[in-house]
This record gives sequence, structure tokens and C-alpha cells, in this order.
Amino acid sequence: MATLIDGKQTAKQIRGDIKRKIDERKSDDLQIPGLAVILVGDDPASEVYVNSKGKACEKLGMFSLNRRLAAASTETEVIELIRNLNSDSRIHGILVQLPLPDHINTDRVIQSISPEKDVDGLHPFNIGLLVAGKPRFIPCTPYGILKLLAAYEISTAGKEVVVLGRSNLVGRPLSNLLSLKADYGNATVTICHSRSRGLPDICRRADILIVAIGKKRFVTRDMVKSGAVVIDVGIHRLAEEEGGGVCGDVDFESVEKIASAITPVPGGVGPMTITMLMQNTLQACELATARAKK
Ligand code: GUN
Repeated sequence: MATLIDGKQTAKQIRGDIKRKIDERKSDDLQIPGLAVILVGDDPASEVYVNSKGKACEKLGMFSLNRRLAAASTETEVIELIRNLNSDSRIHGILVQLPLPDHINTDRVIQSISPEKDVDGLHPFNIGLLVAGKPRFIPCTPYGILKLLAAYEISTAGKEVVVLGRSNLVGRPLSNLLSLKADYGNATVTICHSRSRGLPDICRRADILIVAIGKKRFVTRDMVKSGAVVIDVGIHRLAEEEGGGVCGDVDFESVEKIASAITPVPGGVGPMTITMLMQNTLQACELATARAKK
């Protein structure tokens, strides 16, 4: 049976470190980190995410603002709100919950966030730094996965890593990071997707298989090499007739029998994502303090 990679426990440890650093800032009379989360519209899943981000801030003693805009808001209104937050000195991180309604251009909205407050790491400037091998804000889910691998002492150096999925939020930045000359990198990385020919063969090459394809139980036992590490980024709500609860992009029951280590869903990658958002917000605050001292 595979080792369970416990994201809840790992996230708890990292949050403990973040809280200690924030408490230290308070006792040193330094500014506390502040995060603004913008939600446009009323998608119920996004509401849940946004609320949990606010709660996480509160627990760590961070400052947080939740800004809700109606689904019919214009792109100009969203960008105007971001401009105000860009110049709000209480705020070090700005996150616009995605997806945005169809009538709003996501690229223009993301590009209006000050790169210094882009704690999601989605602004082209920060993507550029990452690809150039000098990451500043690492997107939260990839960052969480790197931290999980580190916590379980799973080295990536020299390994065959296959990333299944090419989204801007997960697959693309993660595949870049893993190939960098860095402690968490030095891997031989293959990025593949739903249109890749011979996917099962490609996946079976992996020493570490990272799945972010957004399809329920897509990866089955026949796609996994014996002894591989499997990281499941997916989360899908199951209907009552499917047994309720949630499942991932990996068919956990069959794959855990062949993997050496695997993340469960829920309780694997999920708890790490918000934690790394908190980490990035703390980092943005520390960078702001350092700039002010210059
Ligand atoms: N929607 C789902 N995941 C994310 C994320 O990591 N960042 C943002 N901004 N929106 C999301």
C-alpha cells in the first residue's frame, strides 16, 4: 500500500511557521500582511473558496478584505477596484477569484494587478521571472505541491516527472519549476494533456506523476508505473447516486495499490493551496517592508 501524502498535516505545520512570523512582525511593530480577495458574480464553488481564504487570514492574524462585485459588473469596474487596492498600503496581496464572467477579459484584469501584489503569480511579469529561473511569487497550487514533495523527502533531481495538464494555474508553471536548476527542480519533465497521443505510455514513464487534467478518476492503475509517486490536483463533487463526497483526477482505489506514495482527495493538495497563498502574502509584505527601508 502507498504512503498517504497528508496535505492537511503539512499545511498545518507551514501555517504554524507563517503565524509565528506574523506574531514576530507584530511584536516588532511591523505592518501585518493584508490580502484582498475579489469575487465577481455568485458562483457557489467560488464563494466557498473565497470565504475559506478570509477565514485562513483571520486565523493567522492577517488583515483581509473581501470585495464582492455583481456578475453584471463591467471590466472597467473590476480594474478600477484593483487600481484602488494597488495603492492601498494595508494590502500586500490581491487575488481575483477565477473564472471571471465571460464578458470580462481575464488577461486585462490580471495585468492591472501590481506585480508586487500578485500573490497568485499570474501576472506576465511574475510568470516571466519564473520561466527565467528567478521565481518571485510561485502560483499557489504548484508551490503547495513542491512543499508536499519536500515534506515527504521526495527528491525530484534526475527523476522522470510527468505533468498531466497544461493550465496557466497549475500544469504550465509546475512543469517549468520542476525543470529549473533548484532544490525542487532538476527533473526531466514531460508536460502532456488530453490531446497527447499515447497518454498511458507517457504516464507510465513517470517516477512522479502529477495529474491536473480536470477529469474525474481519469488516471487508472494501468497508467501508473509500479512504485511511482502520484500527486492528484483534481477535485470533483460526486452526485448522490455516485456515493456523494468528492474525488480527484486519479482513480485512488486502484492506483494506491501500485503507487509508492499518493495524495488523497480531499486532504492532499487542496489544503496546501490556501496555505501557500498565505505564504505568498507574507512574502509580499516582507518585500514591501524591505522596499520601504531602501
Ligand atoms: N480558481 C481556482 N483556483 C484558483 C487560484 O489558484 N487562483 C485564482 N485566482 N482563482 C482560482
